Amino acid sequence: MTLKDYLKKAQRQKFAIGQFNFSTLEQLRGILAAAQKMKSPVILGTSEGETKHLGLKQIVALVEIEKMKYKVDVFLNLDHAKDLDIIKKAIDFGYSAVHFDGSHLPLEKNIKYAKKVVEYAYKRGVLVEGTFPGADSFTVDIGNIHGMHRDVKLNFEKLKEIRKNTNAFLVLHGGSGISKDQIKKAIELGIVKININTELRLAWKRSLLKSLKSQEIKPYKVLPQVQKAIQEKVEEKLKSFKK
Ligand code: 13P
Repeated sequence: MTLKDYLKKAQRQKFAIGQFNFSTLEQLRGILAAAQKMKSPVILGTSEGETKHLGLKQIVALVEIEKMKYKVDVFLNLDHAKDLDIIKKAIDFGYSAVHFDGSHLPLEKNIKYAKKVVEYAYKRGVLVEGTFPGADSFTVDIGNIHGMHRDVKLNFEKLKEIRKNTNAFLVLHGGSGISKDQIKKAIELGIVKININTELRLAWKRSLLKSLKSQEIKPYKVLPQVQKAIQEKVEEKLKSFKK
């Protein structure tokens, strides 16, 4: 099944597919191990910073090799991409989707670039995510904020309005820290993709600091604990994205 097939299935059956960002091998393996255990397809997100850190070619090659071992359906999405060159490269190298973020641009330029991305991606069968008509996946702005914020209150009336006005796949960014009840309701009302990054980064840092307190210096003895912490966090999230 393609990513589009899964997103359509999620629309029909009311569940959400998780996007989890990574920039290290133990994060990648933790995410894939969780997806395998939960029997969930999964989207791997890489922001421009994460992509530059690992390298585009390296990411695609790594994911190709790792996904054979984990036997899950895995898709790559370039997250919050602003640079058209990186977007084109990601498409050429085999990403399944790209998220164009033109929020820093004046409106006219934003529209012009969005059109370029859509044109380039569609010719190559790649999905486009963004906050513009013409995007396959529409990023909603309903009170969700990136990072950990205690008092996030999603605006469900606005979500209903958006749902009425578009058939695009609805994406919730800033998934970290949003209560399970609100996640459930958002899925009921049509969200089919949820992005999580900050909570995974926190799990990564906390578990790494804890592991480093021991006298152990072998990375291959320290990092499996970090991988396990990532896996547990992703499993918890995937559970809440299911029906
Ligand atoms: P969080 O960091 O709040 O989980 O958001 C991630 C995200 O939306 C990536 O696009």
